[in-house]
Amino acid sequence: MNLQVHRKLYKENMRKFLITANWKLNGNIEMIAIFLKFLNNYLITHKQKNIIVLAPPVIYLDRVYQNIKHSRLFLGSQNVDVHLQGAFTGEISGIMLKDIGVKYVIIGHSERRILHHENNELIVDKFRLIKSLKLVPILCIGETEKEKKYCQTEKILENQLNCIFNALGKQAFRKTVIAYEPIWAIGTGLSENPKNVQLIHEFIKNYIREHDMESIKDLIIQYGGSIDASKTKIFLEQPDINGLLIGGASIKYREFIKIIDIANNII
Ligand code: PGA
Repeated sequence: MNLQVHRKLYKENMRKFLITANWKLNGNIEMIAIFLKFLNNYLITHKQKNIIVLAPPVIYLDRVYQNIKHSRLFLGSQNVDVHLQGAFTGEISGIMLKDIGVKYVIIGHSERRILHHENNELIVDKFRLIKSLKLVPILCIGETEKEKKYCQTEKILENQLNCIFNALGKQAFRKTVIAYEPIWAIGTGLSENPKNVQLIHEFIKNYIREHDMESIKDLIIQYGGSIDASKTKIFLEQPDINGLLIGGASIKYREFIKIIDIANNII
């Protein structure tokens, strides 16, 4: 279903965006009830052209799903393990995620790369597994402040993309989502300049096009890093920013609804 929606994104002329709410380790039962009540009300009264993905903490995935399964919202997971089942205490199985309605899986997030020491090798394995289950990976890539200072951004992004190409071949990025997230911009209130993001997204797109023309048709490149409602329009007006991956601002329902409303009104 979501893949069909993906294809439609590029068939119609109107710009459509993929907006992902990454709640990280935030939320509780009460917050979810209020959030979904207001969000569902908004969606009932406003025709939506965009795809909205909610990625709550894994413990609340099913609760969220039960409240969104009849709406145009999709469920995302913030993580997945490389094992599907067995003696792996505490891990999250991709098959089980699929079983409870998950469509998108965030991987390669800098918080997992840094705090959980996830390296490119592991991220490649997760990417491969997600695709084999016909789920959609949201692959986060991005540079540190130091790497930006030394003009290494493109090199870093190339490396992160190459790991996937090397393991999965030229067609690896068909029907996938990439989230460009400069690490220094996450949760800091400092966003990259939207014009720079446009150039970086162009770079990513061209790099993938060099490997496989076909991938570009389905490819969605989100930007993430301290996005809130006040920045949404200017970012989404850039031609190669196809959506947003939002952390902090996605937990507050008023702010999040403002963001999706602004996105909905961009033509
Ligand atoms: P932020 O987080 O919007 O709070 O900067 C983005 C992310 O980590 O995906």
